[in-house]
Amino acid sequence: MSLTRRPRRNRKSEAVRAMVEETKVTTDDLIFPLFLLEGTNQKTEVASMPGIFRLSTDLMLKEVEACLKLGIKAFDIFPAVDDKHKDTTATKSYDANFFYLRALKEIKKQFPEACIITDVAMDPYSSDGHDGLVKNGKIVNDETLDILGKMALAQAETGIDIIGPSDMMDGRVGYLREVLDQNGFTEVSIMSYTAKYASGFYNPFRDALDSAPKFGDKKTYQMNPANTTEALVEAQLDFEEGADFLMVKPAMAYLDIIKLLKDNFPLPIAAYNVSGEYAMIKAAAQKGWLDGDRVMKETLLSIKRAGADVILTYFAKEFAQGTK
Ligand code: PBG
Repeated sequence: MSLTRRPRRNRKSEAVRAMVEETKVTTDDLIFPLFLLEGTNQKTEVASMPGIFRLSTDLMLKEVEACLKLGIKAFDIFPAVDDKHKDTTATKSYDANFFYLRALKEIKKQFPEACIITDVAMDPYSSDGHDGLVKNGKIVNDETLDILGKMALAQAETGIDIIGPSDMMDGRVGYLREVLDQNGFTEVSIMSYTAKYASGFYNPFRDALDSAPKFGDKKTYQMNPANTTEALVEAQLDFEEGADFLMVKPAMAYLDIIKLLKDNFPLPIAAYNVSGEYAMIKAAAQKGWLDGDRVMKETLLSIKRAGADVILTYFAKEFAQGTK
């Protein structure tokens, strides 16, 4: 048969396939989310996230060191807070003596080269389990900003590199930028959770932190999974308010949104390959229904191919171990 174009020629050998490969995921692209516990020598596995552990500061320092050796340079650290420390106004989130802030300081002191990202939202510290302040059963926007400002400032004071507002309150990127700048933290970056959807894929994370909402859901602040154009509004606002990165979350079910933001905004795009996405792959692999390693790599590749420059993923360490 006479065929001028035979696409299979570019797939004929490992060498040719490697030569024409368009997308590559490397450890440079990855951010490893970690869960921090109070105390010392504490290590508990998250039941719905096999292979992912909550760690106390001493063990977290060892983990960061091990990951740095594997080539992972960036970490997003979340606190698992005991109920006794939670209140309606998330007071502990800006108490410099609280274990989370002390740990951040210690990590930056021991590993100044590590890029440390923090989470700005009330839920881990809130007795209501919501990202914002609850008043008469409603999540109030502007009063939440005041608390988030104190939280971000306290985090910046520990020496961290990037804050990650994951709360989805209106106007928070501009507000936090102003608070940081007024206090001399012009170098602290903002990785904004720009298009964060009200998703069923966050449940294992809420198990990890015991941070599920005590009533209702997060639909008045997180986006409707049915919506696309709204992501452009959020991105436009975050861009104008000074965000350094725009994030899409979750990743796998929102590849179109990643591409949309990549095509329309001249900023690095981050994608959060969330807890439920990790859990699905791990569970299927444990049952022998999927080749976990292969599907992990294909997943990360798809997120990068869609346009993500940066991927937050619980697979970071496993991926790095496989490439060493
Ligand atoms: C909360 C927050 C959530 C995640 C990161 N920050 C959960 C939520 O919004 O309920 C989810 C991350 C994951 O599922 O891996 N501010």
